[in-house]
Amino acid sequence: MFWEKYTQSQIKSKVFESLSKNTNYRTENILGIPGTFLDTDIFYDDAPFLKDAPFLSVLIANPNHIGVHTLGDEHEDFFSGTHEIEKDLIKICAEEIFGAEPHTYDGYVASGGTEANIEALWIYRNLYVQEYLANLNEIAVVYSADTHYSIPKGINLLNLNGIEISVNQISREMVFREFEQKIESALANGIKYFIINVNMSTTMFGSVDDIEKMTNFLNLLHINYKLHVDGAYGGFIFPFTNIKNLFNFNNKNISSFSIDGHKMLQAPYGTGIFLIRKDFMKYVCTNEAGYVKGKDYTLCGSRSGANAVCVWMILRIHGSVGWTVKMHQLVDRATLICEKLDELKIKYFRHPDLNIVTIDANYMSQELAMKFHLVPDKHDVKPNWYKIVVMPHVKQGIIDNFLTELKNEQHFNLR
Ligand SMILES: Cc1ncc(COP(=O)(O)O)c(C=O)c1O
Repeated sequence: MFWEKYTQSQIKSKVFESLSKNTNYRTENILGIPGTFLDTDIFYDDAPFLKDAPFLSVLIANPNHIGVHTLGDEHEDFFSGTHEIEKDLIKICAEEIFGAEPHTYDGYVASGGTEANIEALWIYRNLYVQEYLANLNEIAVVYSADTHYSIPKGINLLNLNGIEISVNQISREMVFREFEQKIESALANGIKYFIINVNMSTTMFGSVDDIEKMTNFLNLLHINYKLHVDGAYGGFIFPFTNIKNLFNFNNKNISSFSIDGHKMLQAPYGTGIFLIRKDFMKYVCTNEAGYVKGKDYTLCGSRSGANAVCVWMILRIHGSVGWTVKMHQLVDRATLICEKLDELKIKYFRHPDLNIVTIDANYMSQELAMKFHLVPDKHDVKPNWYKIVVMPHVKQGIIDNFLTELKNEQHFNLR
């Protein structure tokens, strides 16, 4: 895994160069697009600082990145300059982070992990319908109980069957016997096609599904399946802290990934990334998108080019080496919390390569959880868990204060 680190001035000149290759609403004859630069009363383009602010300059120029630009040359050419930056971003993610060979993948910057996950379900559903003439009642999506709610949301939207597998309450691993049994019973009940969602870190626990165990079983039974990795949370951290993991395109069992820029990467909201092997996007081509050159393959349609540029800028300013260091720092800080919890004999779950620490709610008062804004697993009834997510703003001082108060509480018998 390697991508080069750029200096601020290299980034600036590359972004401004790409912007200069876009069609400019201010200086060129553009009569047909229902888009323009941002409102000039608020976003005036002669603000002096803009010449040093590449992201804001792209935001104001407002390029639309509608469509998927890795698919070939046939796409909107108004904004081909910033499309190139998005292509470099997708290349870094697919080739460097997830080990794909050049030209073997497609991808785009989606609105978030939800869209990227639903895009995957949509593609595989249509593949089964188009290639195997499947009925919707013959297709099922399999996922663990700790899976993000965007998967059930997608199942609902796409009219699919969901098969939820329980997790072990201590290890947070899928109950594997149940996985086997539910798949066997689905087969007996007429399900022929499976979409498997595998979590490369769950939202609440940071747990990572055992992909090898799952695919060994599926392959042994010659199950017809497509496998999507939900790395919306873990995608920009786990590959850096666990370099020998099996979540990459060298793993033939995987077809697609979701990874969110607006989580670990500290990019603005609207920066989910969807990656998939070549020859899959065609199943969601909306041919009715006649006015869009190159057609549309995404759920969202129009999307901001500034978002793609911003994620690229963040990856480039750190380079792969800097990013790896940064992710290790978060994980180390999470480890310190865990060491203290061990001392206090407080029950928690934590994956050693992730920055989420999820504490058993029996060991903490609700007041303390609220004071430090820990997030509960549920809001409507008494929570079982509260999580700490060690993000860059979670500094050692706050952690120390929290742990001191937590320690003081242990004098009272909370359990
Ligand atoms: C594992 C996982 N998948 C999907 C999502 C959905 O992401 P978004 O809120 O960006 O749509 C999240 C968000 O927390 C997540 O943690």
